[in-house]
Amino acid sequence: MRISMTINGTQCVMDVDPDDVLLDVLRGAGYLEVKGSCHAGDCGACTVLVDGRPVASCLTFAARVDGHSVTTVRGIGDGTHAHPLQRAFVENGAAQCGYCVPGAIVSAKALLDENPEPTEDEVRLAMDANYCRCTGYEQQVEAVLDAAEQLRKEARR
Ligand code: FES
Ligand code: FES
Repeated sequence: MRISMTINGTQCVMDVDPDDVLLDVLRGAGYLEVKGSCHAGDCGACTVLVDGRPVASCLTFAARVDGHSVTTVRGIGDGTHAHPLQRAFVENGAAQCGYCVPGAIVSAKALLDENPEPTEDEVRLAMDANYCRCTGYEQQVEAVLDAAEQLRKEARR
């Protein structure tokens, strides 16, 4: 079946099978920043935004995304400048092996779009589906709080 979706702002038309999952379709189309790990909805590595909401792309049929908008971690910067979340992950040591980072950053993006001034607990809750084997989570929480502060400063300018 033929579907169309907007991926990181670009309209894409693709042929998929009814049981193809979004993770495989995105990676097959070259969006290799979307990572697969558990393929069972447990780890959060494959998280992307669909119409601004985080979803596990390994559990989402591509056909269900027909007509919708998908954002991967690559789509949250402006193409030239890193997004404050991307910068904060690097600056806080929140990206070590990096495997979880694409999913963690898009989950954080969804949080900050909805709640620009989250508490530490709200950050932990928003990212509790994103497993990280390297950082112990502290650096990632710090990164999200730093990015939130940076975004608020930018909004006041
Ligand atoms: S690969 Fe999708 S949640 Fe783990
Ligand atoms: S940085 Fe390695 S799994 Fe998170």
